[in-house]
Amino acid sequence: MRPKLLILGGTSEAATLARRIGGELDVVTSLAGRMTTIPDLPGRLRVGGFGGAEGLSRYLQEERIAAVIDATHPFARHISAHALEACRTMGVPLLTLLRAPWPKEEGDRRIVAADMADAARQLPSLGSRAFLTIGRQELDAFRDVLQVWFLVRMIDPPSQPLPENWQVILGRPPFDADNDRRIMKEHGIDVLVTKASGGAATHGKILAARQLGLPVLMIERPQTNSGASAASIDEALAWLNNL
Ligand SMILES: NC(=O)c1ccc[n+]([C@@H]2O[C@H](COP(=O)([O-])OP(=O)(O)OC[C@H]3O[C@@H](n4cnc5c(N)ncnc54)[C@H](OP(=O)(O)O)[C@@H]3O)[C@@H](O)[C@H]2O)c1
Repeated sequence: MRPKLLILGGTSEAATLARRIGGELDVVTSLAGRMTTIPDLPGRLRVGGFGGAEGLSRYLQEERIAAVIDATHPFARHISAHALEACRTMGVPLLTLLRAPWPKEEGDRRIVAADMADAARQLPSLGSRAFLTIGRQELDAFRDVLQVWFLVRMIDPPSQPLPENWQVILGRPPFDADNDRRIMKEHGIDVLVTKASGGAATHGKILAARQLGLPVLMIERPQTNSGASAASIDEALAWLNNL
């Protein structure tokens, strides 16, 4: 019987990892189920929460999971904390696959925000037409920023009405720098708001802002204590080989 690997997914890295492992292990990729479309992946797919760290512990035991790779987004802090706790409790090896943040380069006008609330506080002093690219879940932090007009990019349409000073643009990564530059110019954007997500798929907006000389308000990653970690898929595969 092949050993069973659980990949906590929801990122392009998780999908690439599942494809690179192929049939060597019995791979289960787990998704939160926030998206309307489900990616086509090798191995098995399960969708939906586990029920906290306790539920995940039970799942690890019932499914006889031999190892877990947490390849969730750097801002998905709950599931990562649950993975750490459950794997410790059950004695299952855990690796966090964490993509590197975007390096600051010459020409970047980067302003750091500690969290969403801090970003909302700083924003009016940086611009009046913001390109808000933080996903859907934490948009509420910006609802009271009435002096700024927002172009809000999200993958799926909003589930609730948005303020009048917000315009939605739908799009699914990967995003291309030329197209992001065109979007920013067309809408008269004077500041970009982003999470410090890192990764190639959404790097285009950082390049575009640099080319246009725009400030980038970058929300720092939440602090997590994840134990063993890898910064690339090759490193994650090497960890698996060593197990
Ligand atoms: N946050 C972002 O900016 C962002 C961006 C791109 C993609 N994503 C992806 O979207 C998903 C949800 O992100 P989030 O920020 O809402 O995460 P989160 O705050 O860490 O998770 C909230 C809850 O959703 C469930 N969950 C999250 N990821 C899961 C997974 N891969 N498999 C099964 N259950 C999962 C867990 O429910 P239970 O407690 O019931 O187990 C977790 O407690 C993640 O898989 C992440 O990789 C997030």
